[in-house]
Amino acid sequence: MPPRKNPVWLAPSLLSADPGALGDAVRAAEAAGADAFHVDVMDGHFVPNISFGPSWVAAIRRRTRLPLDIHLMIESPQKYLGSFAQAGGTTLVFHAEATDRPAEVAHSVRDLGVEVGVAIRPETPLAHVSPLLDRIDELIVMSVHPGFSGQTFLPEALPKVRAAREAIDREKLSVELSVDGGITVATARESVAAGATFLVCGNSAFVGKTVSENLVELRKATELGRRDRGEVR
Ligand code: DX5
Ligand code: ZN
Repeated sequence: MPPRKNPVWLAPSLLSADPGALGDAVRAAEAAGADAFHVDVMDGHFVPNISFGPSWVAAIRRRTRLPLDIHLMIESPQKYLGSFAQAGGTTLVFHAEATDRPAEVAHSVRDLGVEVGVAIRPETPLAHVSPLLDRIDELIVMSVHPGFSGQTFLPEALPKVRAAREAIDREKLSVELSVDGGITVATARESVAAGATFLVCGNSAFVGKTVSENLVELRKATELGRRDRGEVR
């Protein structure tokens, strides 16, 4: 990821945008101050839904220079890493539950010259991925069961975010700590207070008011969360 302008990044999830006007959504969110885009890739096997493939990622890449956070909710992620890297993904995030060899998959992503992320489902303990923390760039703590946008935030994600923040700080690692699912103004604040530095915003970015109004509200919530953490007064 490029040097950060904002201490906490807001990454609109394009799953919540109108699929027939994806380009417009990308332009509007970028103009509204999005820090990155989150692209949900689903195969109908790992999760009960199907979404974007590499050609969508390439089309999105042609419309923005912002980092693309590619969330691979797919089985056998190693088969598709090359296609998503070539399509312009900045970070390829695979699910820890989708492979028996997470260290090897992480290594393959790194070999492609892109950043590597790992995501964990709500029921997966942090301990499952702790040994990987020193070799990844991003950890996504899922706060909904993966598959659909617009679900309600599962509060049990928060202790996991706190524990991940402690581990990252204790070991002085530079891992982006992301929360994905059910982010609202309230849960954005709580997630940042727990130590998150990257929030995936689906419905909270694209539904209701304009993306610009939504991002202003979410940005304010991240500032309140930083205040709760004692990072700013
Ligand atoms: C869910 C996806 C999320 C989703 C977030 O499986 O991984 O990225 O798009 O959408 P909201 O923010 O509406 O929960
Ligand atoms: Zn996602």
